[in-house]
Amino acid sequence: MLLAFPDYALQSQALAAAAGLRCHIVDVHRFPDGESRVKLPAALPAEVVFCRSLDDPNAKLIELLLAAATARELGAMQLTLVAPYLCYMRQDAAFSPGEAVSQSIIGRFLAAHFDRIITVDPHLHRVDELCVAIPSASALALSAAPLVADFLKTRLRSPLLMGPDSESRRWVEAIADRAGFGAAVCTKTRLGDQSVTIVLPDVDLSGRQVVLVDDVASTGATLARTAEQCRERGATRVDVMVTHGLFVGDAIPALKRAGVSEVWSTDSVAHSTNVIPLAKLLAEGLLARSRSPAHGA
Ligand code: R5P
Repeated sequence: MLLAFPDYALQSQALAAAAGLRCHIVDVHRFPDGESRVKLPAALPAEVVFCRSLDDPNAKLIELLLAAATARELGAMQLTLVAPYLCYMRQDAAFSPGEAVSQSIIGRFLAAHFDRIITVDPHLHRVDELCVAIPSASALALSAAPLVADFLKTRLRSPLLMGPDSESRRWVEAIADRAGFGAAVCTKTRLGDQSVTIVLPDVDLSGRQVVLVDDVASTGATLARTAEQCRERGATRVDVMVTHGLFVGDAIPALKRAGVSEVWSTDSVAHSTNVIPLAKLLAEGLLARSRSPAHGA
């Protein structure tokens, strides 16, 4: 049985259909004081898959804790979490004394409550393997790069893929390799939540179509500053492609003001820019895991 949450119901139902699972929507009620009531079906099979994307994560993590503990009380033995967007992966070090290293704390929290975790393009920078961030017997990181490459090939002929920072290099190069496009990466300095400086690489952009590629867009500031500079350098068109489109606040209008034509994302986070469904990829990961229970990735 796959248990979905109302905020990610359509995508979860598509995953259940692709994996051949029954789907039930968990009943979630948020009380006026911010607490949550979570209600599961009264009878559960031994194996349960929860599907929830962890954008806007704090309340969702508590609700997952309530749901996982209740599922075990109801007799479920094997719990899998499919979280297409995995939260708190960016804080992977204490940048000043006393800072919580959220990646490993949240990773341990999830590993304590779920036997298997499946996600897509987690933001792993100083940590290479998902099973280090989530010390679970079974943590699988799927890549949306092939789907992204195939999508971009249907839209553009020979764009230059531009990553806004060194951390985007792995996505940009994986997509460029498969699509046969050129790739380049900028240098980013973060000054604050919504303030970054971008230095473009030394490539000729005049008359080029550029696609900015990143794993996560939050405020959109990183992509907006990069787009402005690409336009100033003569790019005729700049589009944006991200795996996880959080797009908080006025991120989309800000990208448009910066000269971005189209904004595309996978449906790891439900958003109007979604053009690439992940259900088939996630179902393959889910079914492969069922056949081969003992591997980390
Ligand atoms: C960080 O390295 C990520 O890949 C993104 O570049 C970052 O999270 C984007 O944040 P924002 O959209 O707020 O600039």
